Amino acid sequence: MPKFESFHSRPLLLISLLWTISFSTHDIGAINTKNFDFKEAPKFYNSPTCPSLHNSSTDTTITEICFQNAVNVAMTLDAAYLRGSMAAILSVLQHSSCPENVIFHFIASSSANIHYLNLKLATSFPYLHFTIYPFRDSPVAGLISTSIRAALDCPLNYARNYLADLLPRCIQKVVYLDSDLVLVDDITKLAATPLGEEAVLAAPEYCNANFTTYFTPTFWSNPSLSLTFANRKPCYFNTGVMVIDLERWRNGDYTTKIVEWMELQKRMRIYELGSLPPFLLVFAGNIAPVDHKWNQHGLGGDNFRGLCRDLHPGPVSLLHWSGKGKPWVRLDASRPCPLDALWAPYDLLQTPYVLES
Ligand SMILES: *[C@@H]1O[C@H](CO)[C@@H](O)[C@H](O)[C@H]1NC(C)=O
Ligand SMILES: *[C@@H]1O[C@H](CO)[C@@H](O)[C@H](O)[C@H]1NC(C)=O
Repeated sequence: MPKFESFHSRPLLLISLLWTISFSTHDIGAINTKNFDFKEAPKFYNSPTCPSLHNSSTDTTITEICFQNAVNVAMTLDAAYLRGSMAAILSVLQHSSCPENVIFHFIASSSANIHYLNLKLATSFPYLHFTIYPFRDSPVAGLISTSIRAALDCPLNYARNYLADLLPRCIQKVVYLDSDLVLVDDITKLAATPLGEEAVLAAPEYCNANFTTYFTPTFWSNPSLSLTFANRKPCYFNTGVMVIDLERWRNGDYTTKIVEWMELQKRMRIYELGSLPPFLLVFAGNIAPVDHKWNQHGLGGDNFRGLCRDLHPGPVSLLHWSGKGKPWVRLDASRPCPLDALWAPYDLLQTPYVLES
């Protein structure tokens, strides 16, 4: 289980400022920070009808992560996807009717330069309520078996399994979001998804997808394994957008259940993809539904074959560039897909599309 240890943004900001001054830019992480200057996002204000986050003047900043009226959002954070994360954050704030009530919980690898990530976020979003939680990758790295896509094998990709351990106990519900998406609708509506009597998580389900293909013949031919789905009507769901009841998750110890499937996968290959199949094994058929407009996924398409994906029919509240192609990479390469134009307005990179010589 990852060690719980949280850094609150404000105290850490001071530390990171001092830290940055005392070291040369050469020491700040493995990336060239010169290429990663981000603009400051405007301040977003609550509409007058928003419930108050701050109950009394005695509230300290440390307790603000546990306010009842907050919309808690969890995302992973790393240097490689920082530009995507920044765009996602901006889109959440811009379309929220109560942006000051949105509290972000970022999970970063404990081996990453958390001071750098914190400084970048605090500089672009001076008014953001956020906390960065270090995630110890080594226990998870030992559980990961190589998948058919190397990008899916990074331990941070599995952090969503551990949210119930990483986030403070007082947080009952969280919206988990991938870093390659933008919202164009109010996240409060997504967060208010009813979970019913028993569901631990809610996500858009896709019952027309051929569920068989997510697991290997080894899995389906072993009755003791395939019986997992007996008495369930399992459907594919994408783990990039989920509303999770953390209290129910903790009570049912679902982290352990997911880890057990990962341990089995190490011994016999029961699936080919990364973090998704264990989620399907534990939850498929037992999740609460979410309208498909909240995860228009697959927009990453397959960049190598030059394929651009179109939107699924119906309304759009969230655009998700899942798949190999990322909009910022294609825009930088001047080979964008038509829908990448919908991501570009949320790009906070200071000088996009200007290459340094
Ligand atoms: C504010 O305080 C009141 C009374 O102490 C309590 O009942 C209520 O739940 C609190 N609201 C929030 C948002 O914390
Ligand atoms: C689903 O996929 C499996 C394995 O690839 C295949 O055998 C089966 O015919 C497919 N079912 C449908 C309904 O397409």
